[in-house]
Amino acid sequence: MNDIIRVNNLSKHYKILQRGEGRFEIIKTFFSRKYKTVKALDKVSFTIGEGDFVGIIGPNGAGKSTLIKILTGILTPTSGEAVVTGFVPYKQRKKYVQNIGVVFGQRTQLWWDLPVRDSFDMLKYIYKVPEKQFKTNMKKFAEILEINDYMLKPVRKLSLGERMRCDMAASLLHNPKIIFLDEPTIGLDVEAKYKLREFLKEVNKLGVTIILTTHDMGDIEELCPRTIMVDHGKIVIDAPTKDIKNKISSQRTLLIDFKGAPPKLKNKKGMKIVSKEGDRIMITIDTRKHSVSSVMKMILKKYEVDDITISEPSIEENVRKIYRGEL
Ligand SMILES: Nc1ncnc2c1ncn2[C@@H]1O[C@H](COP(=O)(O)OP(=O)(O)O)[C@@H](O)[C@H]1O
Ligand SMILES: [Mg+2]
Repeated sequence: MNDIIRVNNLSKHYKILQRGEGRFEIIKTFFSRKYKTVKALDKVSFTIGEGDFVGIIGPNGAGKSTLIKILTGILTPTSGEAVVTGFVPYKQRKKYVQNIGVVFGQRTQLWWDLPVRDSFDMLKYIYKVPEKQFKTNMKKFAEILEINDYMLKPVRKLSLGERMRCDMAASLLHNPKIIFLDEPTIGLDVEAKYKLREFLKEVNKLGVTIILTTHDMGDIEELCPRTIMVDHGKIVIDAPTKDIKNKISSQRTLLIDFKGAPPKLKNKKGMKIVSKEGDRIMITIDTRKHSVSSVMKMILKKYEVDDITISEPSIEENVRKIYRGEL
């Protein structure tokens, strides 16, 4: 398969002015400027094939957005190189942008005060999208993303989920070969997330390469056959998601509130009672040994329960475990 992205020893260092606390420190800072270097990306290398769907996961501050900004030509790296669709993004930005679509979850590319429709007209003009292609795409987006209902609303009046769908459509209007999505699911509720994921699957099936950053392991498990995990500007793991998944997300925590005093449960292989407080018990389950549903069934059958919450380890915990060699 052809590589559509090649990244070689890519680094991005930010210099930040170090500031002391207090009145005199501020004056001192003013006279002798001390800088600290943050290695947002530290010699990162990888390649991505055409048509792939790759997830980049990592805790806050890991360097995900910095990587996306370099790959989309917004930032120039300190050293190293990136080639995407045959272009060096930060050097050939004008020609390059026709090939890519970008969505930043935290920020919209649509015009805030204008009706959604006007933003699409503007983008059509900017990207020189032929009339026929524009019509076909708008029809497709209306069908799959159901964005027609709010075409006449100003962007600022849309819900986050609606806005995200419009942003997705906008990024695909000019038929890019590759789309970069920086935390597209951030802040979305369960239903909006589900719809967005289904849409992305369809887009990828059409042959569009997708690079998605997230700190939600759920996005990755659902969408991306390959995962690149970053932390402190470095790649921690680059592997098929199923391999990583087996390792990192096998633990689930169940928090169970019983009606009345909780029963005496015993530890067994793959199931550990972590704490017991009042009516509440916390259990961890190794899902390679027991499924969450089987444990829940077992408990619900025997005992009266008020509430159960299930949680999985955060990405921060997973990264820490990988460092400690526990996984
Ligand atoms: N413009 C900037 N100036 C200084 N430091 C920055 C800047 N942008 C990002 N950083 C720092 O670089 C690191 C990586 O940031 P970022 O790429 O935004 O991470 P992520 O998207 O994974 O949360 C962080 O330590 C962040 O504080
Ligand atoms: Mg980010």
